[in-house]
Amino acid sequence: MSKLAATNIVHFKNLNKDQLEAIYQISEHLNKSSATESLINDALDWAVEIVSAERGLFVKCVDGDKEFEIVAARNVNKENISDLSGFSSGILHKVITERKAQLFHDAQSDPQVSKFNSIQIQQIKSVIGVPIIQNDEPWGVILVDSVINRKSFTKENLIFLNFFANLVSLSLDKILNIEILLKEKLLLENELENLQPVPTMIGNSKVMQNLFKLIHKVAKTDATVLILGESGTGKDLVARAIHELSNRKSNPFLAQFCGSIPDNLLESELFGYKKGAFTGANSDKKGLLEVANNGTFFLDEIADISNPLQAKLLRVLENKEIIPLGDTQVRKINVRILAATNKELKKLVDEEKFREDLYYRLNVFPIKVPPLRDRGSDILLLANYFIKEISPEKINISSDAVKKIMDYDWPGNVRQLYNVIQRALILVDENKITSEHIIWDDDPKEAKFTGTLKEVEVRLLKERLNKYDGNRTLAAKSLGVSVRWVQLKIKEYELEQ
Ligand SMILES: Nc1ncnc2c1ncn2[C@@H]1O[C@H](COP(=O)(O)OP(=O)(O)OP(=O)(O)O)[C@@H](O)[C@H]1O
Ligand SMILES: [Mg+2]
Repeated sequence: MSKLAATNIVHFKNLNKDQLEAIYQISEHLNKSSATESLINDALDWAVEIVSAERGLFVKCVDGDKEFEIVAARNVNKENISDLSGFSSGILHKVITERKAQLFHDAQSDPQVSKFNSIQIQQIKSVIGVPIIQNDEPWGVILVDSVINRKSFTKENLIFLNFFANLVSLSLDKILNIEILLKEKLLLENELENLQPVPTMIGNSKVMQNLFKLIHKVAKTDATVLILGESGTGKDLVARAIHELSNRKSNPFLAQFCGSIPDNLLESELFGYKKGAFTGANSDKKGLLEVANNGTFFLDEIADISNPLQAKLLRVLENKEIIPLGDTQVRKINVRILAATNKELKKLVDEEKFREDLYYRLNVFPIKVPPLRDRGSDILLLANYFIKEISPEKINISSDAVKKIMDYDWPGNVRQLYNVIQRALILVDENKITSEHIIWDDDPKEAKFTGTLKEVEVRLLKERLNKYDGNRTLAAKSLGVSVRWVQLKIKEYELEQ
């Protein structure tokens, strides 16, 4: 039998019927506590109540048993006391060193404690201190006192409070152990998260490791995520990974490409329609947003959505509801929204091409997928990964090919790397990819600077005008020339659409 249990039995025999009843209630209550803080506060309230004390203090031992920290305190009005100086630290030390409950009836004249300054200054008449034990070591002390001319505590009070303190010790032991385990669990989960890659994505570089961490973190929430990044960087993979790592993983993941699709078609895909809503609507059709209920919906290339559809999507994000075409009934949906674009969405907002309110609704948690050129040796890692994926044979990459791959800036990112490797594997003959096998046929940089001056000018101008959606001022700025120069060249080369 443990020391604590043995002490309890001795004290138990000395309790009367009312006290046993009270102990029963207290133990039930303490057993329900699930956090240290609430247990401590409840215990102190009970202790003050049980002996009708004027003040109560719950202290925790710091640095072994040398110092004390107040964890809860009550004066007569159950208000908090913030300072330990008004209490007898001498008595606290005595309870701790002797590890047993102490009662001083007449503190003023008791030779053991009257020497303590606080007893005199605070005019303390009666004090009871009981130790709280955890793992057979003193964890803290509950101290209750009464000042001069008030009630004096009795031996019975001491027995009862001691029994009570043992119950608190047992509950505290249980809760602290659970709290330690929970903390360890959180730490381990966090460690695992940091170690755990995103299963479908290759990358050891710092930027990719940071991306994986973000994906793991955000996946656990229901937050709307805006996935940004150049074309071919892996935005689709990120969206899928967020779903796969989320609590919604056993529910549907649906994606809709929103770029260059006629508005009415996109709308009926997303929201569905009622029979007769338009010519050809021969039966009711559920929208994809509704089909994805309880799952995740990925709006790919969100920047291309028309203004009226943007307004409808805003409603989905704000109220989680949809109205199918031709219907009057609002339908509630529970869908987590992910969106992606390779455009600068904020810029489109500034140019009033994208609704600002929708932008802020989508931009709750932005994730930027880094371009391949910023991923260092991941380029080679990915190249070898794709070789293994495509070719049944073992194929190496020569050092000159490695250099060529590493020196390139990959405007088409991972998708382009995949294509280049695929091409190289068709051309390779001796199980070794050399620099001649690495061909960027769609390399805009190399192509840009071949041909006559006129051809180069036309290519560059077209590219910049496309990039800035025909905005001549921005195209001129990016080329370092005047708007007038751009206008003249457009006219000269007949580039007007
Ligand atoms: N880290 C990665 N590991 C393995 N494969 C990758 C990785 N990133 C991208 N890929 C592959 O590269 C290709 C392009 O990726 P994805 O379609 O996700 O790009 P994206 O950013 O959505 O491009 P876009 O803007 O053009 O839609 C896919 O085949 C994808 O599987
Ligand atoms: Mg994509």
